[in-house]
Amino acid sequence: MNAVFSRLPPAVIALLLQVAAVTLVFTALRITGLSFPPLAFAFICGTLAAAFSYLAQQARWWLPIQLLFVPALIITLSTDIPPFIFLLAFLFMLVSYWSTFRTQVPLYLSSKKVWRAIEAQLPTDAPFDFVDLGSGMGGVLTHLSRTHPHGHFHGVETAPLPFLWSWLRFKLGGYRNCSVHWQSLWDCDLTKYDVVFAYLSPVPMAALWKKVQNEMRPDSLFISNTFAVEDHPPQKILKTDDLHHSELYLWRK
Ligand SMILES: C[S@@+](CC[C@H](N)C(=O)[O-])C[C@H]1O[C@@H](n2cnc3c(N)ncnc32)[C@H](O)[C@@H]1O
Repeated sequence: MNAVFSRLPPAVIALLLQVAAVTLVFTALRITGLSFPPLAFAFICGTLAAAFSYLAQQARWWLPIQLLFVPALIITLSTDIPPFIFLLAFLFMLVSYWSTFRTQVPLYLSSKKVWRAIEAQLPTDAPFDFVDLGSGMGGVLTHLSRTHPHGHFHGVETAPLPFLWSWLRFKLGGYRNCSVHWQSLWDCDLTKYDVVFAYLSPVPMAALWKKVQNEMRPDSLFISNTFAVEDHPPQKILKTDDLHHSELYLWRK
């Protein structure tokens, strides 16, 4: 049971703990005959859910989310916001973030300073193939395609809105050396590329490292923005002075 529980995505674990907390508080109030105003009830549920998340060793940032979830729900329900606004917001989040609750790789974008740092690592004259695993809105690819018109720039992306946005951007912007595929990075054959770039999260890095080792050709280059690979120090680190002081980790096979 414990093994099954720990294999669930953290968002599902958080939701289960939240449901357990609300059920427990509700049952306790029914048994004791006590009653509280809705917001006090919500905060008692939130405190219990946060305690459960702490005991379940969830990442620290889940604790404030667990604490505030039911109170936020109660406050929102007391407003006059029409229900379709929530539906629209949900649909927008769904097409933007898609399976983030499972992959734990959300959409956020590399800075321009990171683009420039990558730019300096690419071949200057010879043609080459570059892939961005999880290409987001396509900004890395369009920038590099301008600085390196002799390169071919590919993206793979699973979230519908970023995919569609970048597909249109390449078509309408005349980026002939850019393409994007609606495909999981795990189904992308890395043998075809000279340079593989990823900006993901700590979660998939160990599995990605295995894929890189199995598939990338000798002399090809793997670049990870921000996320290192445990036990495999990079051969080169590029520091940028963007807002997050992003670091690029480079491995030449
Ligand atoms: C942090 S963003 C990076 C966007 C872009 N590469 C950049 O550097 O600006 C990660 C992207 O990976 C996508 N993603 C997450 N898991 C993926 C998967 N298994 N296959 C393809 N894309 C994925 C997400 O939808 C998101 O757009």
